[in-house]
Amino acid sequence: MSGPALRVYDSHRSIHEAAFGQVKEMTAIIKQLYNENRWEEAKQAEEILIEHWYDHIIAHADSEETGLYQDIKQRQPEMVETIAKLTRDHDLLRKVLEEAKHLLEDNSEQEERIQLYDSLLVINWQHSRDEEKYLLL
Ligand SMILES: [Fe+2]
Ligand SMILES: [Fe+2]
Repeated sequence: MSGPALRVYDSHRSIHEAAFGQVKEMTAIIKQLYNENRWEEAKQAEEILIEHWYDHIIAHADSEETGLYQDIKQRQPEMVETIAKLTRDHDLLRKVLEEAKHLLEDNSEQEERIQLYDSLLVINWQHSRDEEKYLLL
């Protein structure tokens, strides 16, 4: 979706809602699998979750930074600081996700990674609401 199309509130918000619902559900399934001691399935589900974050949420953030955010900065120079804050949220998501990925590769305790998956959900939820509030028509 290009810059101008992402400015439409309903379509952009529904992208946020759909992606958030998916990763929230996947995180809940991972917790359930660990509760049932289904280790192998849980680890596979974690790999799928991390991939899903990259393919949906991070890809969305990348496209905002090269499209929507540039478009807004050009039209409304007073929004530069808001855009910088929203971009920092994206960077936090990237950093936390990268950490979760490394911990999974290093076979850390799963509780450590689950905390990170929960953090990603919180950051993403707050970020989406701010983006909808400040940027969308
Ligand atoms: Fe965003
Ligand atoms: Fe967005």
